[in-house]
Amino acid sequence: MVQLLRLDLHQMNRLADLVHDPVIAPHLPALAQCVAQRESGFSTDKKAIQLARVLAGLPAVTPSSTDVSRDRIRIGAPTDLDHHQTHALQDALIHLKPWRKGPFDIFGVRLDSEWNSSIKWNRLAAHLPCQTGKRILDIGASNGYYLFRLADQHPAWVLGIEPYLNFYFQFLALSRYLAIPHVHCLPLKLEALPEMRSCFDTVLCMGILYHRRSPLDTLLQIHRLLAPGGLLVLETLIVEGDAEMALFPQKRYARMNNVFFIPTVSCLTHWLNRCGFTDIRCIDVSRTTLAEQRKTAWIDTQSLEDFLDPRDPRKTVEGYPAPVRAMLLATASSR
Ligand SMILES: C[S@@+](CC[C@H](N)C(=O)[O-])C[C@H]1O[C@@H](n2cnc3c(N)ncnc32)[C@H](O)[C@@H]1O
Repeated sequence: MVQLLRLDLHQMNRLADLVHDPVIAPHLPALAQCVAQRESGFSTDKKAIQLARVLAGLPAVTPSSTDVSRDRIRIGAPTDLDHHQTHALQDALIHLKPWRKGPFDIFGVRLDSEWNSSIKWNRLAAHLPCQTGKRILDIGASNGYYLFRLADQHPAWVLGIEPYLNFYFQFLALSRYLAIPHVHCLPLKLEALPEMRSCFDTVLCMGILYHRRSPLDTLLQIHRLLAPGGLLVLETLIVEGDAEMALFPQKRYARMNNVFFIPTVSCLTHWLNRCGFTDIRCIDVSRTTLAEQRKTAWIDTQSLEDFLDPRDPRKTVEGYPAPVRAMLLATASSR
């Protein structure tokens, strides 16, 4: 419990460096209140207590060097740890499973996550305008893989929100070693975020929209969060074709029971347009392959190969078109 308390304070202390930013500073009390409310449940949450213990077991070392500029984010070198510390690290990383996003090299432990997130990052990086000095929000940041990659572009600060405890604690573990100033993540849902009007220059909404019951309300909320002229990076499942339509699965899509609307790119463009976005451009459409999403030793669950029809991998097990994702950039118009 003491350890939990220490972690929470650490998080809020780190947020405190945003006090000097006149754009976000007025919103910090409300943000801190939301975080405090969420974290007040941690002390009685078995999962949070277990994960805090795992974090406490991480070796207390400072990596000799780190590198967030490459596809595989690297922390330290194997020689930074002695035998016992290596064992403790491996044990902690295993207890933080499932690792959905990565890859990482953590003191020589090659952590291949279910998703090779560098593939999505590289699709984005090829089109992302310079992020130096920008205020960035990543919705559903998972363990922070994209937060760390963004940090390499010298933004003013990057804030992730990730409500799922396993992923949030993975972020805490990684950031303990990466220790990059101005990279933050909070255990919040998008809908729990206070009204932080015009706070962000860039918002990443990747792998989120198809999970939303009301995608237009989500896009409207993001529009309010963005400063006029701010950039939305939207990545979501789509169906191919020119029709201005969306697929709404009867129950499950690729074994997920929380998938709602899967639009065509033109339907998505209309949604964005009607929610106040302009200069909408689709920068990538890619079928999800087994090179990008696959079962590895760092997850104990099923993966893409189990979600596709074994007789026809162009279809999901439910008979819907197999996952294809589009990435769009759009500009928030002034209100
Ligand atoms: C499909 S993953 C996408 C992760 C990452 N953004 C990416 O594109 O690789 C969705 C993420 O959103 C998180 N999430 C789920 N519900 C959320 C909510 N209400 N608000 C913010 N994030 C949420 C999940 O825990 C998960 O990490």
